[in-house]
Amino acid sequence: MTTKNASSTAISSGSQERAARIMERCDRLAQESAEVGKISRLYGTPELRAARDLLDGWMQEAGMTTRIDQIGNLIGHYEADPAIADPKTLIIGGHWDSVRDAGRYDGTLGVLSGIAAVEGLHEAGVRLNAAIEVMAFADEEGVRFHTALLGSSPIAGGFDLAWLAMTDDAGITLGEAIRAFGGDPEAIPGDARATEDLLGFIEVHIEQGPVLQERDVPVGVVTGITGSARAEITFTGMAGHAGTIPMSSRRDALTGSAEFILAVERVGRSAEGLVATVGKLDAEPGASNVVAGRTVQTLDLRHPDPEVRGRAITELKREVDAIGERRTLEVAWHDSPCFAETPSDPTLTGTLRKAIEHEGIPVVELFSGAGHDAVTMATITPVTMLFVRCKDGISHNPAESITVEDVTVALSVLDRFAASVAAQG
Ligand code: GLV
Ligand code: MN
Ligand code: MN
Repeated sequence: MTTKNASSTAISSGSQERAARIMERCDRLAQESAEVGKISRLYGTPELRAARDLLDGWMQEAGMTTRIDQIGNLIGHYEADPAIADPKTLIIGGHWDSVRDAGRYDGTLGVLSGIAAVEGLHEAGVRLNAAIEVMAFADEEGVRFHTALLGSSPIAGGFDLAWLAMTDDAGITLGEAIRAFGGDPEAIPGDARATEDLLGFIEVHIEQGPVLQERDVPVGVVTGITGSARAEITFTGMAGHAGTIPMSSRRDALTGSAEFILAVERVGRSAEGLVATVGKLDAEPGASNVVAGRTVQTLDLRHPDPEVRGRAITELKREVDAIGERRTLEVAWHDSPCFAETPSDPTLTGTLRKAIEHEGIPVVELFSGAGHDAVTMATITPVTMLFVRCKDGISHNPAESITVEDVTVALSVLDRFAASVAAQG
């Protein structure tokens, strides 16, 4: 391959075809799922591995060398111009795990946009002054272990080895799941990346909100990402016959859950910008004619201000204790790792703004209520994100929808952004 110097005209050529390829590949990845007719790709599963094999092939076709780290992230490396001594690296990332019954663009758009950006360079025979790495994170959603950002945490040096003992619904530990997925959990700390080698991190992601649609623009810049906390709460009462135990002497764990869920809604409504959700509830033994003896429920609580989050958590812990006392239930509260609110890097975001303006598009600023790997990556390198308009703001739902026209714009912006960052590097 002949090596040319970066010219944004050369890089931007063919963004329509590459965007069409992104859409086709999102459709193809959607077929790798635990459930026929639905998209469900949880950490460490055969479907996650099958989708990774596809991504690996596409990365190699785009001129990257690939490797898999201990937790199972796939990392494609596109070399810098060989004339550059000690080139730094720009990371373009995304995740390819999903929630249950997901849409096809959350996460995968970021990975496939990264691959498409490198494809553009490769097809044009262009090497930049910096290496590009496309990082496909194996777990961002945190569905299986109820802990988000597991894929990017090792890379950012933020993986706590105590997490290896966390269990999924089947009692399998994270450590066992990592081994089954081909990694060595004890070697995870060795995957941390050195800050000084990096220029920054960008993810292209669907907006998951309606603002871009309302403003009638295809893309927008992310000014920051909210902070979040997760927990798992257990109520233990006494299972028994639904026909024979008098109402007055029941220790029904599920009615405790009902009170808790309503408390979560009330607390979630108590402060501007606060959101609180119980998204999962398991009741045991789980039969219509048995009073529930035990329930396990999740809590997901988000706000950009740690004090607001802290107050809400304290109030909910009080509620849980009070419910336990009133209903003679044993209670247990387990905090999952929480994530700090994360502003985008102003310099990197400035470069992204210029790339958007170059397309003749007004720059719309968005704050993300959803979590993203940029939160962990920000601890080692400057981060920014480009959001792409999604229909009616719907996500975490099979109705997620984007257009090839908007992806074409996003890709042109990403091409220009990558070339600018590498040139400044
Ligand atoms: C990921 O989508 C999250 O915000 O939980
Ligand atoms: Mn998501
Ligand atoms: Mn996502």
